[in-house]
Amino acid sequence: MTSTETTTVSLAMATDTHTSWFDRATFYPPDPIFALTAGFIADPDPNKVNLGQGTYRDDEGKPWILSSVHQAREKLISQKLYHEYLPILGLAEFRSRAAEVALGTRIYREHKETLATCQSLSGTGSLHLTGLLLRAVLNPLPKVFIPEPTWSNHHQIFRALGFECQSFPYYDYANKTLDFDSYISTLESAEPHSIFILHACAHNPTGCDPSKSQWEQIGQIFKDRQLFPLFDAAYLGFNSGDVDEDAFAIRYFVDDLELETAVCMSFAKNMGLYGERVGCTVLVAKNSLTARNTESMLEMLQRSEVSNPPGFGAKIASTVLGDEQLKGAWYEDMVTMSGRIRSMRTQLHDLLVSQATPGSWNHLVNQTGMFGFLGLSPKVVEQLRDQYYIYMSANSRISLAGLNSHNVEYVARSIKTCLEDQQF
Ligand SMILES: Cc1ncc(COP(=O)(O)O)c(C=O)c1O
Repeated sequence: MTSTETTTVSLAMATDTHTSWFDRATFYPPDPIFALTAGFIADPDPNKVNLGQGTYRDDEGKPWILSSVHQAREKLISQKLYHEYLPILGLAEFRSRAAEVALGTRIYREHKETLATCQSLSGTGSLHLTGLLLRAVLNPLPKVFIPEPTWSNHHQIFRALGFECQSFPYYDYANKTLDFDSYISTLESAEPHSIFILHACAHNPTGCDPSKSQWEQIGQIFKDRQLFPLFDAAYLGFNSGDVDEDAFAIRYFVDDLELETAVCMSFAKNMGLYGERVGCTVLVAKNSLTARNTESMLEMLQRSEVSNPPGFGAKIASTVLGDEQLKGAWYEDMVTMSGRIRSMRTQLHDLLVSQATPGSWNHLVNQTGMFGFLGLSPKVVEQLRDQYYIYMSANSRISLAGLNSHNVEYVARSIKTCLEDQQF
C-alpha cells in the first residue's frame, strides 16, 4: 500500500460513523478492591464493615491524619508555598531523606555515591519506573518472578512492560504459613539474572514474612546465583512500628551481601499520604559511574512519563524527615498505627477462639502487617457480605485496619455463624 492509500484508508476510518479508532478496546471489569469499596459505600446498612481496602482507619473507622504530617503541613502552609515545577528527578532533599529511611544512616552515608534515586508516583509509580529502567538496560529481558499470592498490580505492571512474569509458590495454604521450601527451590532453579519481586515486609496479602535467618538464606542464594532483588517497600515502619526492623532485608542485601538492589518506596501507608502519591525509587549500584548513568536514565524515563513529579506530598514527607522533632513524632505515629492494628489482630483471634469458632485461628496472630488472610471459602465471604454487610476480598484477605472496638465482636460473631451454617 502506498502512503497516499494509507492516508485515504485512515481518513475513511476516522470519518465513518460506524468505525471507531477504539474498536479493538475490550471491556475490563473494575479492579476488585475498588469495586468492593464502591459496593460498601453504596450499602445503606448501618452495621456495614469494610475489611477490603488497605487504608488505615482509627478506632472510629475514620481516616487518620498523622500528627507528624499535620504539623509538617501547617509548617509548609505558614511559609510561602510556591507551586513551581519540581526537578524531573523530584525534590532532591526528599530523595536523599527517603533513601536514608530505607538504608539507615550509616549504610546511606557509605553508599551515597553509588545510589541512583528518583521521586516516584508512590509505590506503584516506583515499581513501574524501575520496570521501565530494567527493560531499557537488560537484553535479553529476564523473567520476573512474583510470589503467589501477591498484590495484584505486580503482574499488571510488569506484564504491561513486556516482561514474562512467573508466579512462584510463597504461601502454604494448608498450614497457613510461608512456604519456605518452595521459595528456596524456586530461587535455586531460576535462571541466573532473573528478577525477583520481594515484599520488604508485611507481605500483601498473606501477612507472612521470612524470619531474619530465612532472609539471610534467601539473600545468600541471590548472591550465589546472581539473581536481582527488587524490593517492594510499601510498608516500612508501618508493619512493626520500627523502620529499622522492617528494613532488615533491604539493609542485609545491600550492606552484608553488597548486592545491587532496587527499592521501590511508598509513603502512602507509613505517612498516610495515600492521595498525594509520594514514593521514591532507590537503586543501589556497583560504583558511582554506574549510579550516575543509571540516574540519568531514570531522569530521561521520568521525563517521558510524568515530566515532573507532584510537589506537595513530597514537601510534606521531606519536612517530616528533615526535622528531628517531626521525625520523632512520625516514629510515634507509626507505633500508634501498627499497635492498633496488632491489637485488632489479637482481639479478633481471641474472640474467634473463645466463642469456639470452627477452625484454627493461630495464623491470625502469627501474621504481621495490615493484612490478614482468614482462610475462608468464597461462599463464606459471600454470605458475610450478603447477610452481614461485611466486605472483604474474595480470597478472604482482610485489612485489619477496618476493625475497631465497635465492630470487632460483630465481625467475629458473624464469621462464626457463617462457618457453622456452611457445616450443614
Ligand atoms: C505490596 C504493595 N506494593 C505497593 C503498593 C503501592 O501502593 P501505592 O502506589 O499507593 O504507594 C501497595 C498498596 O496497597 C501494596 O500493597
